[in-house]
Amino acid sequence: MKPARIAPRVQLFVCTNARAADDPLQSACGSHGASVFAALRAEASRLGVVGAVWITRTACLGHCPREGCSVAVYPRGGQWTDVREEDAPRLLREAIASNTAAR
Ligand code: FES
Repeated sequence: MKPARIAPRVQLFVCTNARAADDPLQSACGSHGASVFAALRAEASRLGVVGAVWITRTACLGHCPREGCSVAVYPRGGQWTDVREEDAPRLLREAIASNTAAR
């Protein structure tokens, strides 16, 4: 094991986990995660921060919202639920701000 040679300043993990129609959790991440992921990537590109802010698809984050999807922001920024495509610009700005304010 060795430390990675590069690392992002901020990393957002977007749940795109799709559940079966008869799954009792009925999470909406499978239907909203892909569009939120694409919107966050587009916004990071528009802001010119793709090298410092990584957007990554992931599986279940444990929230399983009925609306939107879940997003986790690291190293600081917490976890969000019910995230929709239109939330991407504000979420990305807040994620960047929360991870640069104390530096
Ligand atoms: S399926 Fe997305 S948080 Fe559980």
